[in-house]
Amino acid sequence: MSLRCEPWSRADKRTDKENLLSPEIRAEIDAWVAKYPAEWKQSAVMAALRIVQEHNGGWISRELMDQVADYLDMPPIAVYEVATFYSMYETEPVGRHKICVCTNVSCMIRGSDRIVEHLEKRLGIKMGETTEDGRFTLKEVECLGACGGAPMFQIGKQYYENLTPELVDSILENLEADDGQ
Ligand code: FES
Repeated sequence: MSLRCEPWSRADKRTDKENLLSPEIRAEIDAWVAKYPAEWKQSAVMAALRIVQEHNGGWISRELMDQVADYLDMPPIAVYEVATFYSMYETEPVGRHKICVCTNVSCMIRGSDRIVEHLEKRLGIKMGETTEDGRFTLKEVECLGACGGAPMFQIGKQYYENLTPELVDSILENLEADDGQ
C-alpha cells in the first residue's frame, strides 16, 4: 500500500489536530513536514517517531504511534510497520541509557563477543534486558556504519569505538557519575 494517499479516514479518527501531541512536539514534526511536498507529509514519519520517542523517555507507546498516524494522516498500521522495522525505535520502555551494541561482521571479527560478555557481566543483565534500577538497557543491533572503529556501540547519539573492556568500564563510570551515583 502506498503511503502517498488521500488523508486516512476511520470512524474514530480525531479531527482536531490541536489535541494531538504537545505543541512542542507538533512544532518539531511540522518542521520536518515542511521539508516535503504537502501530499507527501507522510515522509516525515521517521522523524516524527524519533521526536516522539525522545520526548517520551526513549520509547513509543501504541497510543503515541496512533497519534503520529493521525497527525500525518496515515493508516496506523503503516506507522507500526516503521516503528517495528527500524532498530532505533522502541515500543517498550527502556533504561535511561540504551546501549546499542553492534555484533555485525566487522565488530564480531574485532571482538564484539568480548564486549557483550563484559557488559552483561558488569550490568548483571542479558541482551534485550534492562537493569532493575532502570538505568541501562542492552540491545544488540546490526551494523551502525562505524566498521572502521569496530568493535563499537552507541549510547544516545554518541558512538563509542575501538572498545575494550577497560574502555567500557570507563564509559559506564562516566555515565554513572553523570547520573549522580
Ligand atoms: S559491523 Fe559494527 S559498525 Fe559495522
